[in-house]
Amino acid sequence: MILVTGGAGFIGANFVLEWLAQSDETVINLDQLTYAGNRENLASLAEDSRHVFVHGDIGDSVLVARLLAQHQPRAIINFAAESHVDRSIHGPEDFIQTNIVGTFRLLEAVRAYWHNLPVEARQNFRLLHVSTDEVYGSLVKDAPAFTETHRYEPNSPYSASKAASDHLVRAYHHTYGLPVLTTNCSNNYGPYHFPEKLIPLMIVNALAGKPLPVYGDGQQIRDWLYVKDHCSAIRRVLEAGKVGEVYNVGGGNEKPNIDIVHTVCALLDELRARADGKSYREQITYVTDRPGHDRRYAIDASKIGRELGWTPAETFETGIRKTVQWYLENQDWVANVQSGAYREWVEKNYTGRAA
Ligand code: NAD
Ligand code: DAU
Repeated sequence: MILVTGGAGFIGANFVLEWLAQSDETVINLDQLTYAGNRENLASLAEDSRHVFVHGDIGDSVLVARLLAQHQPRAIINFAAESHVDRSIHGPEDFIQTNIVGTFRLLEAVRAYWHNLPVEARQNFRLLHVSTDEVYGSLVKDAPAFTETHRYEPNSPYSASKAASDHLVRAYHHTYGLPVLTTNCSNNYGPYHFPEKLIPLMIVNALAGKPLPVYGDGQQIRDWLYVKDHCSAIRRVLEAGKVGEVYNVGGGNEKPNIDIVHTVCALLDELRARADGKSYREQITYVTDRPGHDRRYAIDASKIGRELGWTPAETFETGIRKTVQWYLENQDWVANVQSGAYREWVEKNYTGRAA
């Protein structure tokens, strides 16, 4: 079996669902259920004995050691993290705690477990750490995309905490021989994306008749990858990646934020037109920029393509259409995640952000 951490969040839940759609190998899913964790994402597995959910913290050494001893996983995929840049600006402490201290404690527990495994199990064991392109910092226009050897230049408390976790994972391989793999991926989008991030926020606000808040001039560039393609990349790296290596994962879809918002508006105009016949574009509002906002990310994913044969299945056009359709068909899910805590966040982040 495998142990997944953070498997009730956006990417983790998609990963667990995809894994069990393709394999009968049991998943132990350790998740602290922060505001971003949602068991409803896994509702279709409620009666499925191949999914074992454990409510807990990756930083709880006693719990993690017990889970490892009890279930003897052959691999661990570490998704658990605080993941939202804006939240890291308002309150970095949780990011330090989970992304750095939590990863460290997880590594320590895994090291002890791995060390005592029988020889063959020890050789076959893998820890795959899921990380981000944001650790590489910001690119100027026309600069080459990030390769795996690009220097680390994190600019937000979030990316700095992820960078620290990547360094710890690397060090545990070099120092202790722990068989690790690291993936650094670009912006994901798709089903179960919590509506504090750009794409789901725009869909949800548009449908609610609310402003679509674009930071700064909207010309910041991100590379976008459909979440199921990220999951297939992780499966491929787990299966065939070379121990100790880093693999960049991306969609080859560099787009300015404003283009993303225009695309979402156009799809909604087509699929759920406004009652007044006007375009959802009318709701776009430019607001005060994110402090320290990275201008451009771009991923060179040629290594994973060349060495492991991975390519994304979706183009941006097919993936974004599926995503908008999913949100239109899952309005109950949207309503349920818009709890008091969500409303407090929206208030904190957007009130006073001058238009
Ligand atoms: P998310 O915020 O949606 O989910 C994170 C999950 O981790 C939640 O279920 C949460 O409850 C859980 N969690 C948080 N702290 C925990 C702890 N201490 N112990 C156990 N569980 C804990 O995040 P996501 O977007 O699904 O991202 C998953 C991983 O992928 C993160 O490591 C993130 O840095 C990385 N990543 C995300 C993206 C993206 O575009 N979303 C891109 C590249 C990499
Ligand atoms: O690049 C990978 C990263 O992508 C992941 O590591 C992070 O976990 C994930 O959250 C994401 O980070 P971003 O900061 O790029 O994602 P976010 O959706 O918050 O913002 C995307 C872009 O849209 C960014 O340039 C800021 C902008 N934005 C965002 C919000 C929420 C807006 O213009 N308005 C908004 O209201």
